[in-house]
Amino acid sequence: MCGIVGYVGPRDATPIVLGGLKRLEYRGYDSAGIAVLQDGGFEIRRDAGKLSKLLSTVNDDPIKGHLGIGHTRWATHGEPNTRNAHPHIGATGDVVVVHNGIVENYKELKEELLAEGAEFNSDTDSEIIVHLIERYLSSENDLLQAVRKALSHLKGHHGVVIGSKHEPDKIVAARIGNAGGVVLGFGEGEMFIASDLPAILEHTREVVYLESHQLAVVTKDSAAVYDLDGNKLEIRTETVPWDPIAAEKGEYRHFMQKEIHEQIRSITDTINGRVDFANGRISLPKLNLTKEFANKIEKIIITACGTAAYAAMVGKIIIEKIARIPVEVDVASEFRYRDPIITENTVVLSISQSGETADTLAAMAEGKRLGATLWTIVNVMGSQAMRISDGHILMQTGPEIGVASTKAYTAPLVDQYMLAILLADLRDEIDEKTRKQYVNELRSLPNLVSQVLSRETEYERIARKLVDVNNSIYLGRGVNMPTAYEGALKLKEISYIHAEAYPGGEMKHGPIALFDQDMQVIVIAPKDPWYDKMVSQVEQTKARNAPVLVIATDGDEQIPELADEVMWIPDVFWMLSPVIAVIPLQILAYHIASIRGLDVDQPRNLAKSVTVE
Ligand code: G6P
Repeated sequence: MCGIVGYVGPRDATPIVLGGLKRLEYRGYDSAGIAVLQDGGFEIRRDAGKLSKLLSTVNDDPIKGHLGIGHTRWATHGEPNTRNAHPHIGATGDVVVVHNGIVENYKELKEELLAEGAEFNSDTDSEIIVHLIERYLSSENDLLQAVRKALSHLKGHHGVVIGSKHEPDKIVAARIGNAGGVVLGFGEGEMFIASDLPAILEHTREVVYLESHQLAVVTKDSAAVYDLDGNKLEIRTETVPWDPIAAEKGEYRHFMQKEIHEQIRSITDTINGRVDFANGRISLPKLNLTKEFANKIEKIIITACGTAAYAAMVGKIIIEKIARIPVEVDVASEFRYRDPIITENTVVLSISQSGETADTLAAMAEGKRLGATLWTIVNVMGSQAMRISDGHILMQTGPEIGVASTKAYTAPLVDQYMLAILLADLRDEIDEKTRKQYVNELRSLPNLVSQVLSRETEYERIARKLVDVNNSIYLGRGVNMPTAYEGALKLKEISYIHAEAYPGGEMKHGPIALFDQDMQVIVIAPKDPWYDKMVSQVEQTKARNAPVLVIATDGDEQIPELADEVMWIPDVFWMLSPVIAVIPLQILAYHIASIRGLDVDQPRNLAKSVTVE
């Protein structure tokens, strides 16, 4: 959950580490800290709260040196105060550590270390690691060996970066399990370390990702990777194609707003190169899907968390409809502890923006253990989800920084639509005419996204009217039932307004008891096969005096008669309507939160990728 940055090289480490942390602040933002090797010893600055506090502390009390490590924290053990902020330094002052993950056996280890005389300066589990390294350094005199031994005691998943004043040219980094990544960045006579690529992309695109159970020793002009037994491993750098400019806010007030608008581009890129409009065919080569295997598939289980799980719910309907393969959707945190029925002809398909969400990765591991084929639809190249999968579809959205996911929701809707057509084609479930029609529907999608985005001012007007709402219920049916869930999630995540979502047909089974003039109802009723049902839902809502806002298709004459407000969207093929219908809801949530003066990109208590259970 936390962000980590490290630097060793000829330049001043402080601005490089702080600049990297700025890019990672979305990962955790309840405290931050930096340690720089200055005049032979570590100087540390730490602060509770947002990174801006640390920046002004460093400004008032500067530190300078050629080796530094930094951390932005999302608290798990110990309050988010300065004392618990990373980096942690040991009693001798020799070693500094930043850590991402949870030391699951920290209580036993702490007792052991206390008995040995260690003194703890924080309430964190992470501080254990410093004391363990110090324990072994006193006998080993070699940082790598001491780290290796220290790590062998830890239970759980970890990303760790360590510096020692006795080896002032080195940073040691390690990854165990899936507590987020560790990536090494190769510069000209300088090296970078980070938990996530955006932190170092402005400096280098040549990278090596550490796999689980690997350690790296990095100096300004070298990097060596070892397994936990100390055996040296071969490494090969990869070149990252992302443009660092894409990680900047540009003309927009918030990343979320920028990312909402980037959906024209991301949907275009999602389709480009994968669709042969002339022949009405889809190609997803990285899925490694053969006709033979496509015909063997008996079931697909889509597993994901949060927004990605709502994207999965749309995928279920579309894949079952087009490819006629049974699809289950399982929230990853449930799937991992269920006893799922999986055969060798089951596909477990994960959807994940980060590719590092702990529950999703654990669900994938469970699928693999039970013999399923693993696919993932993932945004972050080189992420763990991508690496453990048998095949993948890379979302073409570029980096998503806003904690509330937007473009990484719509892209997998299109990916799953394309996957459904491809599966149907390989299984001879679709005639040529229908296939060509479905494929052709993708042609106009970027333009429809663009049209809906051009209506932002009108949606903002409605947001102003709803800004003081305290309670809301979103209703949708069929392929747009998940749109209701995702719309409600966006509102609660960033505006802190109570928002629930229900399948429209469930309204009468309970939620309707809540309807009165103080309950804002938001109905998703585009022209899809469930439209008539949704009109009757709007009527029933009005009969209970609840104010109702409806997402409706241009030209609809019934809805304006019934609704208090309408957010109009262009007409779109129903299977792709979730892509278009969710955008006004993203914009609504964005403007309500922004008008309320809230921190849209870093809402309270949340983190962009949840790498702990
Ligand atoms: C966190 C984020 C959500 C996201 C979910 C899954 O909870 O705040 O926005 O949908 O994780 O993340 P993933 O990276 O796996 O898509």
